[in-house]
Amino acid sequence: MVRRRRRSPAIEMTLSIESMTYDGCGVAHYKGKAIFVDGALPGEVVLCQTTKRTSKYDTAKVLEVLDASDDRVQPRCPVAGVCGGCSLQHMNIASQIQARQKILLDNLKQVGKVEPGAILSPLQGAHWNYRRKARLGVKLVPKKGGVLVGFREKQSGYLAVMDSCEVLDERFSQLIIPLRELIEKISIAKRIPQIEIAAGDNAGILVFRHLEPLSESDMETLKDFGRRHNLSIMLQSGGPDSIVALYPEKIELLEYRLDEWDVSIRFRPSNFTQINAEINKLMIAKVLELLAPEDNDNVLDLFCGIGNFTLPLSRIAHHVTGIEADHTLVEMARENALHNGIANAEFITADLYDIPLDGSWLHHKWDRILLDPPRSGAIEVIDRLPNLNPKRIVYVSCNPATLARDSAILVHKYSYNLTATGIMDMFPHTKHVESIAVFEPS
Ligand SMILES: C[S@@+](CC[C@H](N)C(=O)[O-])C[C@H]1O[C@@H](n2cnc3c(N)ncnc32)[C@H](O)[C@@H]1O
Repeated sequence: MVRRRRRSPAIEMTLSIESMTYDGCGVAHYKGKAIFVDGALPGEVVLCQTTKRTSKYDTAKVLEVLDASDDRVQPRCPVAGVCGGCSLQHMNIASQIQARQKILLDNLKQVGKVEPGAILSPLQGAHWNYRRKARLGVKLVPKKGGVLVGFREKQSGYLAVMDSCEVLDERFSQLIIPLRELIEKISIAKRIPQIEIAAGDNAGILVFRHLEPLSESDMETLKDFGRRHNLSIMLQSGGPDSIVALYPEKIELLEYRLDEWDVSIRFRPSNFTQINAEINKLMIAKVLELLAPEDNDNVLDLFCGIGNFTLPLSRIAHHVTGIEADHTLVEMARENALHNGIANAEFITADLYDIPLDGSWLHHKWDRILLDPPRSGAIEVIDRLPNLNPKRIVYVSCNPATLARDSAILVHKYSYNLTATGIMDMFPHTKHVESIAVFEPS
């Protein structure tokens, strides 16, 4: 007989919140045990109820804020406390920025044991309607009123019941209800698990993932939706290679302009792109300022994607080489160079987590190196960089913990100085922290 461990019953308690975790929960202690309270801010006194109890820690949710922090604001979104998309809408923007900066500096200090020479001013942009890319879940849940479209709940993993989304680009933010109504009309509604949204300066696209073929009338319904909302519609029956146009028959590539460098970058909805167009422009300008390439410099851009940094860099440096694992992104980057008439940028497909020793780029000297890895960081490549003799390394990171770990290698093993670091508010209201760090040989 399988014995189920009995769940400890939920208890209510009044707590004083001492600090905040990296993912935005308030931290308190009760009878010596740490309690992570979702929705509570440092300095607050809250009445809360446990949601999970373990021998080492408990988690809890706020029932009532008894003494509110000055940092607390009314969230714009009615499901902000539930939806996993945003975790900090109840905190004012200035405090969110401070909290992100603290997360960055704490990681550098505690994980990396490194101190920056200078802290850069945070890069900030619009706090709402900034998100140009998202994957929305779809599920038919009759007892919650029919088809749900949106992000998953923080705690449960079920889809949140939402009618709109304040952080999505304006072309999509009020589209949640129309999308719910649309899917209800589709004969295979239960076989549509997700809708990918992507927008450039020129257009917006919805990609409907479907696990069974759509009928003719389903396709007409989807086309009609595209026509009415001025959006292109694509269908995806399998992996990213299976994405095809439905409406209009031929869909132009998406595109964003980087006027400061006279570059326009084209992409497909399945390609990686920075989701916040305004911060992306500020970030490129900051990278160029900090990397400070000269006109005779050779620059290496690791994890280059579709050339977001490579192509603006090529306008200043002598030559730029972008390295990227995903060959579809490398092809797009090459097309982008061609389309912009850029001849001094080249792109190489290579897995930077499994670097072959004969990679020709490993045997050059590089004046400047930029890297912008995924969340897992760049531990597999960071050890190779000092040997390439750069005058400066700029590291763009979406995970302060891996940035701190990798910084420790440059600073402690190779005697580089972390001359400056700062945050970039790429994802307001969420738990994500985007940052930049500059290293110079001592
Ligand atoms: C945070 S994105 C940055 C992309 C680009 N710098 C930009 O600004 O659009 C990280 C990139 O690393 C690429 N990547 C992930 N794993 C990789 C690996 N093992 N080797 C090389 N590139 C990788 C991803 O495909 C993605 O394009």
